[in-house]
Amino acid sequence: MPKRIAVLVSGGGTNLQALIDAQARGELTGGVLAAVISSSPEAYALERARRAGIPGHVLPRGDAGAVTAALVELLKGLDIQLVVMAGFMTIVTGQLFRHYENAVINIHPSLIPAFCGPGCYGLRVHEKALEYGVKLSGATVHFVTEQCDAGPIILQKAVPVLPDDTPETLQRRIMEQCEWKLLPQAVSLFCQDRLAVEGRAVRVLERPALDSAREDNL
Ligand code: GAR
Repeated sequence: MPKRIAVLVSGGGTNLQALIDAQARGELTGGVLAAVISSSPEAYALERARRAGIPGHVLPRGDAGAVTAALVELLKGLDIQLVVMAGFMTIVTGQLFRHYENAVINIHPSLIPAFCGPGCYGLRVHEKALEYGVKLSGATVHFVTEQCDAGPIILQKAVPVLPDDTPETLQRRIMEQCEWKLLPQAVSLFCQDRLAVEGRAVRVLERPALDSAREDNL
């Protein structure tokens, strides 16, 4: 049975679109996009979901505890096995990770541990990278834990920062060359049971974890 994936969004949803396109090309091996959950009824990502025939849901507003409780109830009701944060700008509590341990992944537009943490999201990340003068930046897909942007890293990809970059041009390069490729790859690896979390490190397996375990027991 394919793993049922929920994508959590707040805005334009270009990373959601990358997942939709990957699924259409048959590249989300072992997974199916089953729901899009938005923190805002106005998010354009919901329109992308509608066009792709994926059910859209809007999270009720409230404090972090109430929002997380509603989210967990929704995810369980939809029988979701993987939660993907794709530009999701709402704070959730540890309750989510207790129900979905090593099953929530996030995309962040920098090379973590640089330019991340509380308050560092969206265009602000690229402003900080330019202020600092780094010559490389990129994107990171990681498992989400209670500590903001600090969970085990699944995949990273770097691109050059160019002398005349603005936050917008750097953001665009990182989206096109890093985010839209890494996120579908990471989702597909998860859905094939090919990610092994070992402390802070994530090992990408050549074949599914279950197959290896079966062979070890022969
Ligand atoms: C993306 O660049 C994503 O990496 C970033 O927000 C943007 C959402 O764009 N996420 C964060 O900064 C999380 N800390 P999208 O709605 O077009 O996918």
